[in-house]
Amino acid sequence: MRSHYVLVVVLLLLVVFGILVFQLNMPNDSHQWKVSGSRSGSFSSQYLYQAVNSPLQPLPTVQSSNSHWVQLGKALFNSPLLSADNSVSCASCHDVFHGGDDGLPVSTGINQQVGTRNSPSVLNAVFNFRQFWDGRSLNLKDQAEGPIHNPVEMGSDWDEVLEKLRSEPNFVQSFQDLSEDGITVENILKAIVSYEESLVTENAPIDRYLLGEHSALTPQQQAGYRKFVDYGCVTCHQGRNIGGNLYQKIGRLDQVPANLLDDPGRYELTKNPQDMHVFKVPSLRNVADTAPYFHNGSVDELSVAIRIMARGQLGLDLNDADVADLEALLHAFTGELPRSLQ
Ligand code: HEC
Ligand code: HEC
Repeated sequence: MRSHYVLVVVLLLLVVFGILVFQLNMPNDSHQWKVSGSRSGSFSSQYLYQAVNSPLQPLPTVQSSNSHWVQLGKALFNSPLLSADNSVSCASCHDVFHGGDDGLPVSTGINQQVGTRNSPSVLNAVFNFRQFWDGRSLNLKDQAEGPIHNPVEMGSDWDEVLEKLRSEPNFVQSFQDLSEDGITVENILKAIVSYEESLVTENAPIDRYLLGEHSALTPQQQAGYRKFVDYGCVTCHQGRNIGGNLYQKIGRLDQVPANLLDDPGRYELTKNPQDMHVFKVPSLRNVADTAPYFHNGSVDELSVAIRIMARGQLGLDLNDADVADLEALLHAFTGELPRSLQ
């Protein structure tokens, strides 16, 4: 009787161990398994989605991506050849090791030209329902053409970019290895998007908390989370990207600092008066690393941004303890460095 019992326990342990090993190996292995046979053809990253009963959802983790396209995309993202005078790369304004933005109020492009908007993070951007502050791009592929052609950012055009890349033996070889077409606009975009799709900051404390690891948040962060929900921040900053899934006004116009009303937002696109000062609600993931804040980068301190939001969006004057709790929570939105960068 007893030996049967031991046998069953041993078998069960083996099964559990087997599943664990399989799961642990999954992400790494799957980086490779898609590569073979996918010289061209369709491809996109696959994510593991998990749902919980909460207005915030855990960030999906990267299940598999084609590491060759990701590496090529990384090289392009870091290459100044995409700009007219070879001085600016995507990475100049999106430092993926430090929040995915540039830490400046507004970005500086070629010839030291200063733009009008703050650089948003490229980290987890794949999970935004639209791209750009005003949502003018539907997806990452559509978005990537923007900066290359923008005269104040990279100021280039495809003919120029193609010519420069085709004169670089390394790029010629890398493209050839992945696609019979070699260096084309389509393949450049595919590589950049593949790289961006891999820029997921997994395992933030908030995600571990949402998935049941209660101690992943400090008691103060848990208090902050309750306030984030109860005060109504979640009516806008919600879902898996803690934002990035709807448009909203910057706040009640008589309640926000005047310098935040410098930009018509979506009105510029739609000319609909209702869209005046309406923006995509930004993702708050990694927000502790993406100062300065708001579309024009006019606010340096996270605590100040929180007060402006509470006043402008919710009509609340928060006390110091509220702000401290919320700020502590926002620090729990910082995830790990994406695996493709480790
Ligand atoms: C000169 C600085 C600069 C360069 C170079 C630049 N960007 Fe940006 N990027 C910005 C700014 C500023 C915005 C926001 C503009 C807006 O919303 O109107 C932005 C927006 C984005 C977004 C949208 C993110 C979101 O949450 O809406 C993505 C994705 C992005 N850039 C990727 C790239 C890629 C890929 C490249 C290279 C091909 C690139 N950027 C080059 C400054 C730059
Ligand atoms: C009604 C919708 C709404 C509510 C409610 C709301 N926000 Fe926002 N939030 C926005 C929008 C829209 C922006 C972008 C404004 C801009 O820059 O033009 C934003 C921006 C922010 C930013 C700056 C992010 C960045 O990357 O620049 C922070 C931080 C922030 N919100 C925190 C909060 C907190 C904390 C609360 C609750 C006290 C809150 N928000 C409530 C809509 C909302």
